[in-house]
Amino acid sequence: MEKHGLFRGKTVLMTAGPTREAIDPVRYITNHSTGKMGYAIATALLEAGANVVLVSGPVNLTLSAPGLTLIPVVTAAEMLEAAHEYFSVADIAIFSAAVADYKPDKISLEKIKKSGDKWEIILTRNEDIAMSFGEQKKTGQISVGFALETNQELQHAKEKLIQKKLDLVVLNSLNDPGAAFGYDTNKVTMIDKTGHVKTFPLKQKEKVAEDLLLELKRILEREVNLNLPNR
Ligand code: CTP
Repeated sequence: MEKHGLFRGKTVLMTAGPTREAIDPVRYITNHSTGKMGYAIATALLEAGANVVLVSGPVNLTLSAPGLTLIPVVTAAEMLEAAHEYFSVADIAIFSAAVADYKPDKISLEKIKKSGDKWEIILTRNEDIAMSFGEQKKTGQISVGFALETNQELQHAKEKLIQKKLDLVVLNSLNDPGAAFGYDTNKVTMIDKTGHVKTFPLKQKEKVAEDLLLELKRILEREVNLNLPNR
């Protein structure tokens, strides 16, 4: 793909990686996200000339480039706060992070000692970052979300598209071999807000990122045409 300059002048807000929610000073709740897909997208966007603000949970990846603002965070609340700062300046927002939906209601300041056979932890909901963006999104701003599903994949992805007011949802299913967490490959289906569904074969995450950029370009061009004054 000829990427050079394709996104020049665009500011893209991204979230990537997992979040980590502390239980006590030695334990936390997290998930299997490695951030590979998000970092591949950020890299492709930077190569295409975009300014990228990457709000990243804890990952074993590095990225540095002119045009990149990397904001490392740990918890979902920190990710929301950092991303929120850039909501109004983002032309495009891509929510690829696997944000913990819940966090321990209370973080113990001291290590919790074991007692008894069972341990129940009370969890409380984290705010949804993509949803929050959707609620205050302005005309012309584009948002992309991810949906990782294990069943009724297409239906759940479409529901997320509507609930979070996304322009595009990238669906990956844990039922597809070689897709999602940890792999260098991914198999995605992209669904846009007009209901257009495109299924891609299994490919390297770098190639998936290029497919996403092309899809974004198509959506941006459609938005421009929609917002042109009538002649
Ligand atoms: N997301 C987010 N903030 C959250 C939870 C999710 O921004 N607190 C974003 C993710 O980055 C992703 C999309 O919402 O782009 C869907 O995330 P996913 O975990 O698949 O779904 P949930 O909305 O959390 O729903 P559920 O866990 O019930 O499937």
